[in-house]
Amino acid sequence: GSTLQDAAKGSGRYFGTAIAASRLNDSTYSTIANREFNMITAENEMKMDATEPNQNQFNFSQGDRILNWAQQNGKQVRGHALAWYSQQPGWMQNMSGTQLRNAMLNHVTGVATHYKGKIYAWDVVNEAFADGSSGGRRDSNLERTGSDWIEAAFRAARAADPGAKLCYNDYNTDDWTHAKTQGVYRMVSDFKSRGVPIDCVGLQSHFNPQSPVPANYQTTIERFAALGVDVQITELDIEGSGQQQAENFRKVTQACLNVARCTGITVWGVRDTDSWRASGTPLLFDGSGNKKAAYTAVLDTLNSV
Ligand code: G3I
Repeated sequence: GSTLQDAAKGSGRYFGTAIAASRLNDSTYSTIANREFNMITAENEMKMDATEPNQNQFNFSQGDRILNWAQQNGKQVRGHALAWYSQQPGWMQNMSGTQLRNAMLNHVTGVATHYKGKIYAWDVVNEAFADGSSGGRRDSNLERTGSDWIEAAFRAARAADPGAKLCYNDYNTDDWTHAKTQGVYRMVSDFKSRGVPIDCVGLQSHFNPQSPVPANYQTTIERFAALGVDVQITELDIEGSGQQQAENFRKVTQACLNVARCTGITVWGVRDTDSWRASGTPLLFDGSGNKKAAYTAVLDTLNSV
């Protein structure tokens, strides 16, 4: 294949990007996005603050812009994210207890119902585990409603949209030896053993010199897959430049290709200038839309299968 999506299709996988609705009118951006990618994630537009700005008053205008663009161009969509400690609307941030639990479940149901039948996979819960060595949950208003809030969210999502794959998504869960990875692994294992509906694990995979691509990345993918879930690389970006950056992108791509249940890769933006890392160059296209060495490394790796 001569594009990322075509090369990925050769092994039955997808290649995706995050899209910002506000950039869709930029023709350089939308031309690259349309040509190269066949899986779309809304970078911010389907989050809790965007979709329920006032309690029980849902707003899907920006999320729908992205969904419609994707559908018109024959692309699938990953939904991001139904429940998260961050980017909650103001009204939710100070809620607690049963009131918050019910508001969260109402949100999951409302958003998943609106997009029913149109989403390949939902990040049902995002970033619920703590950084550091505890291997436990992150403290948040949602966690303080009872640690079973995560499975309650997954059950609500399944009921609202039985056709969507349901994922748990997190960062710094790429190194198999890290306590955070082990904590997520234990939760997924527990969910599978108790029949809590979960279909996939998202490895965000935001890499930089402080948190580089781990040598055991493929092991992590294999271990999660062995639990009976798909693994998706959901927000890939890698700080760096030139051949070193290209080599890191090659390693990540190869690790996914080596595991049958790693079903696709999404990069977190199109051009370096579209990245959330304001001053970084972590993506596959430069600010002018030119293909970087990292792009060629990914394309060649996808084509080598
Ligand atoms: O849209 C408003 C604009 O109206 C306002 O004037 C401006 C001033 O602050 O803010 C704009 O909103 C910003 C939004 O991005 C859109 O650009 C928010 O402040 C900013 O916080 C938000 O950042 C996003 C971040 O998530 C928030 O947590 C990034 O774009 C987005 O790339 C990033 O994505 C996350 C994933 O969802 C989860 N994993 C980590 C990843 C990277 O942080």
